[in-house]
Amino acid sequence: MAEVTVIKHPLVQHKLTLMRQADTHTQDFRRLLKEISMLLAYEVTRDLPLKYEKIQTPLTEMEAPILAADKKMVIVSILRAGQGLLDGMLELIPTAKVGHIGLYREPTTLMAVEYYLKLPIDVEYRDMLVVDPMLATGNSAVAAVDRLKETNPTSIKFVCLLAAPEGIQHFHEQHPDVPIYTAAIDRGLDSHGYIVPGLGDAGDRLYGTR
Ligand code: URA
Repeated sequence: MAEVTVIKHPLVQHKLTLMRQADTHTQDFRRLLKEISMLLAYEVTRDLPLKYEKIQTPLTEMEAPILAADKKMVIVSILRAGQGLLDGMLELIPTAKVGHIGLYREPTTLMAVEYYLKLPIDVEYRDMLVVDPMLATGNSAVAAVDRLKETNPTSIKFVCLLAAPEGIQHFHEQHPDVPIYTAAIDRGLDSHGYIVPGLGDAGDRLYGTR
């Protein structure tokens, strides 16, 4: 069974509470998601390997840790709400390449249908972070990772903001090898597949649509 890491850092939890509030405006919601995404990126990259290089400080030489150059990353955003996590992550991991996968939820079955895929050509040499704020039914996440596994990345991690237990279970059943990182696990899903208590439709709240 893949592990789920809940990032309980007080700054993440505080910002998430602000995002949940129904009267939080689009611009604040977007800014908060970007801020949280930087904090998530910090946790998700904890296991990046370091190497040591000789450098010169103003005072002396030293062997200093630096990211191992061979550890290349790709961040794949599940359109469209994944975009809200992307920019903050890229600020912390500026050398990452970016992929996009477009899936829409068929409203009656809630199943994910793919309509777009664009990835860097060297994806098989990269560690992949798949980002989508809401792990609800898990259908989109499972379909995205099904498809992305076909491109043979070195590893995959799934990063979200909120997860429902149903989504985690579904994802685990299909992708037990892919760890999940989330800021919170909520109570469950309503009859429309929304996370409860949740924060509503993440894409709509990010972009001011409805
Ligand atoms: N997608 C959303 O944006 N919100 C939910 O609660 C569930 C899926």
